[in-house]
Amino acid sequence: MNCESLTFPAPNDRQDVYSVTTRSGVGFVDQSTGQWLSFAVLPESGVLQQLVTKLHTGEGLWLLGLILGASALTVPVLSYTGAQSWWIRRRSAITQINSQINTVDIEQADTIILVGSEGNTTWGFARDLQANLCKVGCKVYCAEMNQLADYYPRAKRLFILTSTYGNGDAPSSAHNFLTKLASFRPDQTLQFAVLGFGDQQFPQFCQYALDVDAALQNKGIARIHSVGLINRGSSAQFREWGNDIAEVTGIPLALTHNPLPTPTAKLTLIDREDYGLEGLAATSIFRFSAVGTDSLPFFEAGDLLGIVPPNDDVARFYSLASSTTDGVLEICVRKQPYGLCSGYLHALKLGDGIEGFIRQNPEFRPAVGGNPVILIGAGAGIGPLAGFIRKNTQRNPMFLYWGGRNEEADFLYQPDLGRYLNDHRLTGLQTAFSQTKSQAAEKAYVQDKLLEDQTAVRQMLEQGAQILVCGGRGMAAGVAQAINDILKPLQINVDALKAQGRYLEDVY
Ligand SMILES: Cc1cc2nc3c(=O)[nH]c(=O)nc-3n(C[C@H](O)[C@H](O)[C@H](O)COP(=O)(O)OP(=O)(O)OC[C@H]3O[C@@H](n4cnc5c(N)ncnc54)[C@H](O)[C@@H]3O)c2cc1C
Ligand SMILES: Cc1cc2nc3c(=O)[nH]c(=O)nc-3n(C[C@H](O)[C@H](O)[C@H](O)COP(=O)(O)O)c2cc1C
Repeated sequence: MNCESLTFPAPNDRQDVYSVTTRSGVGFVDQSTGQWLSFAVLPESGVLQQLVTKLHTGEGLWLLGLILGASALTVPVLSYTGAQSWWIRRRSAITQINSQINTVDIEQADTIILVGSEGNTTWGFARDLQANLCKVGCKVYCAEMNQLADYYPRAKRLFILTSTYGNGDAPSSAHNFLTKLASFRPDQTLQFAVLGFGDQQFPQFCQYALDVDAALQNKGIARIHSVGLINRGSSAQFREWGNDIAEVTGIPLALTHNPLPTPTAKLTLIDREDYGLEGLAATSIFRFSAVGTDSLPFFEAGDLLGIVPPNDDVARFYSLASSTTDGVLEICVRKQPYGLCSGYLHALKLGDGIEGFIRQNPEFRPAVGGNPVILIGAGAGIGPLAGFIRKNTQRNPMFLYWGGRNEEADFLYQPDLGRYLNDHRLTGLQTAFSQTKSQAAEKAYVQDKLLEDQTAVRQMLEQGAQILVCGGRGMAAGVAQAINDILKPLQINVDALKAQGRYLEDVY
């Protein structure tokens, strides 16, 4: 087999795969076992695809590459074909990823397993379930939730294993599931069970699994078992769910999957800015670099840094305030009373080391384009919002509403925000201080400032503005209420904006 290209898995990501392109097709290889996960033979259109690949890489076509490089007309062509390349590669991955163990066709399968995942950990659990079912003679077909078929002619059982992302939303491999469910024609004998994977640190624990369970019930499909919820990939909870299913169905299941611990990167504290020191509400901005000659992992502002504090085994998440391209990893952390991880971070001195891992959060990003972006946060929630403003080099209209306790001790990022206002990366800033000592200023919360500016906020929303909210749950609830009030004359609400991707939350 002539290998035309080989893409290595992302460093430190044990779940990533090798992508191999040959003249005849595209495949994926497990990085730990070296086994083929899938190989998709390219159809005739693959010839076109390979030409597309050549156009992108210039491989073997240097002269054409020069000509194309000289021509601005190639930009739209390459944009289109680039998107096409990505789409074909992704389609190939998602349709083939389980071909090695999908020994039956969809038409023959008596059991369907559909997987909703963003970070791939749910696939490990799904494969274990599939292997167990196959062992006792079930004819199992496994695919991602987006590939829900209209009809499964022989299926008696439908298992759905899905994580939850955003703030209670679908992971990427399930984005289209609920839409596709409308045309799904279940057989009378079909029964289903949903298993949710999530993390109780997030306000909407396993919410998407709960939504899917309700939607399947509304469709009139009978349940094998009530929805199961797995916290932080607990293998014990997974085993117990398997035992429950075994009891109801009579199919013996011995589920043992135990995900590998997430690999971490070493980081050194190179700078910190401390605020609010005299009270309990100490909040600090921490800046870390990679250690020695290592480079920082890849991340964008709005992604999450996971840190497991000493004397505990549960990671805490912190929203990233910088991107790899800033050359520094920045987080903004409020010290919780008796908080293990926040206390650990606040006790760090310059030069101290920590270990952390990145969890991508691509849903929480300002939209590209010229529509206004309204950033709303309180306390440490300013972190990723400051990161978005720093990156707004296009000078798109960007407004920040931020609430703190006291302007003297707590005004996080004050010098930076002043600079961003001056150079127009930030268009407007409104602050609210809930414990201000100033005679001139009134005590206020961030939602009070939104209501004060309601005419302007409503106008921006009418023009297609997007809202991003970051910080505590209480603040987020108050902000949603205020925005609903502001939206009333337009006869829409926050839920409608959320459905359009125009109201995003990073709430904890
Ligand atoms: C998606 C996400 C993003 C986050 N981003 C940030 C961030 O950018 N900055 C930041 O400071 N924190 C952030 N957090 C919260 C952070 O992950 C920890 O929960 C927080 O630092 C407390 O951890 P701890 O180990 O110090 O406290 P623990 O030892 O876990 O708890 C100690 C005490 O603090 C209380 N407590 C824990 N968390 C909170 C809370 N959020 N509010 C009020 N009381 C609490 C507990 O009930 C307990 O009494 C985020 C959380 C999530 C899920
Ligand atoms: C950015 C982000 C957002 C998340 N949001 C939620 C959430 O709202 N509710 C929840 O229960 N879990 C949430 N989680 C936790 C994941 O659902 C959980 O880690 C799951 O096991 C991931 O499975 P996957 O790797 O297959 O996607 C979130 C995780 C990340 C990184």
